[in-house]
Amino acid sequence: MIYQYCGHSGIQLPVLSLGLWHNFGSVDDFEVATQMVLRAFDAGICHFDLANNYGPEPGSAETNFGRILRKNLSGHRDELFISSKAGHDMWPGVYGTGSSRKNIIASCDQSLKRCGMEYFDIFYSHRYDGVTPVEETMEALIQLVRQGKALYVGISKYPAKEQQQAYDILREASVPCLLSQYRHSMFDRKAQLGGLPGQANDEQSNFQLAAENGSGIICFSPLAQGLLTGKYNHGIPEGSRAARSSGFLQTSQVTPERVEAAIQLAKIAESRGQSLAQMALAWVLNDSRVTSCIIGTSSVKQLEDNLATLHHLHFSSEELQLIDSIINNPQLSF
Ligand SMILES: NC(=O)c1ccc[n+]([C@@H]2O[C@H](COP(=O)([O-])OP(=O)(O)OC[C@H]3O[C@@H](n4cnc5c(N)ncnc54)[C@H](OP(=O)(O)O)[C@@H]3O)[C@@H](O)[C@H]2O)c1
Repeated sequence: MIYQYCGHSGIQLPVLSLGLWHNFGSVDDFEVATQMVLRAFDAGICHFDLANNYGPEPGSAETNFGRILRKNLSGHRDELFISSKAGHDMWPGVYGTGSSRKNIIASCDQSLKRCGMEYFDIFYSHRYDGVTPVEETMEALIQLVRQGKALYVGISKYPAKEQQQAYDILREASVPCLLSQYRHSMFDRKAQLGGLPGQANDEQSNFQLAAENGSGIICFSPLAQGLLTGKYNHGIPEGSRAARSSGFLQTSQVTPERVEAAIQLAKIAESRGQSLAQMALAWVLNDSRVTSCIIGTSSVKQLEDNLATLHHLHFSSEELQLIDSIINNPQLSF
């Protein structure tokens, strides 16, 4: 495994982290989930990414991760870096969602209980909810650190303006933002590039802001939920995320344009001697500001395929130009 420092901090993370959004819930095979976590750990993936609502049912990924931890990794807590998040819909009533202090504090307590842990290594605000003042959310995160329930804090999917506000508030409280989590893949470069000047979304690049403020960047959905593996090149395979009713990838998102781009990209991957998934992960890691990318897997075989990315991370400028000529297409973006 390769490890990199998170922004201006003393924390290193593996360049590949494992996310438990899909495939670790109560509807999934617990034995497979256990094998994936243990294989990841053995391969040096010491960072596992959770959130209160991961499942389904919501919360069950944390419960399952807690079971795996107690049964198989109980002596290894200090070798692990475990995250959770709060902000999306979780429990009924007005306090079960959003970025209020009430939601963040109660969520963290619930998540710790489900995982059977005393603290999270990092706790995130899962989203800016568009209403709650950033001060309120950041003060809640700071409180978690002061109470010892989280060692570090992070933000996820914050728009540029609120992202900068969050960094300023956290820095002022001497609880700097360790990680900024954004969706990023060859099919979604908005966080990296920002919006185009003059367009409705003419935002600053989230990556640039994070780097300027000393925050590490961790990317999610680096394989565009599987679209960048080539698995949808001949239709929607049975059991795939797009085929599953609990999957977040909609069949309508498997468009002819994305499939065609995946076919073209797979040819470049082949010429590099790697799978499309491996090239897609290497491409995300090619941005030196990125600390780690969080992969999802539904089998140990996929995990092995993705781990082999580390054998070939380098790109020639010709390869990057060729990739750019394919992905520079607004129809591919989410
Ligand atoms: N902060 C946020 O708001 C946020 C949002 C989303 C995700 N996340 C985090 O990011 C993590 C990763 O997201 P993601 O699961 O969307 O990531 P992803 O890596 O883009 O997609 C993972 C899916 O791609 C398929 N796959 C992976 N490797 C493969 C391979 N080698 N060959 C064929 N198929 C392969 C599997 O789908 P199949 O089921 O089809 O096999 C797998 O479940 C999440 O678990 C979560 O921790 C955070």
